[in-house]
Amino acid sequence: MIGRLNHIGIAVPSIEAAKRPYIDLYGLKASDITETRDMPEQGVRFAFVNLPNSQIELIEPLGENSPIRRFVEKNPQGGQHHVCFEVADIYAARDAMKAKGATVLNEPRIGAHGTPIIFIHPKDSSGVLIELMETPPKNHGIAHA
Ligand code: CO
Repeated sequence: MIGRLNHIGIAVPSIEAAKRPYIDLYGLKASDITETRDMPEQGVRFAFVNLPNSQIELIEPLGENSPIRRFVEKNPQGGQHHVCFEVADIYAARDAMKAKGATVLNEPRIGAHGTPIIFIHPKDSSGVLIELMETPPKNHGIAHA
């Protein structure tokens, strides 16, 4: 069973440009947004916009084989890419999803929050790519607001 909405993933052509409206338009402080980091093993750069109740994950293609390159080519201004819910146990979640007939797109791997993640094909959820993420321990990894 899914828990808390952890973040919404937005794929963009430029993270630095994508940070601006959160400050200039929506009134966040620069300190509400993390520095941009590279995750070459997953073919993305990322940064988090910390909100009182959740996060926005900005992701930008890194490298020619980035899994989000085609998405950004189709959505040149950027666009909503995935929604991430927390689960208590990623392996139990994977097994349960498979048992229910869902299409699990990858074996658990470490995501941007430092905890294991899987993705569920958009066809199983009204066209929305779903990320399931094992709930991070408190005060773990990238700071939440
Ligand atoms: Co994500």
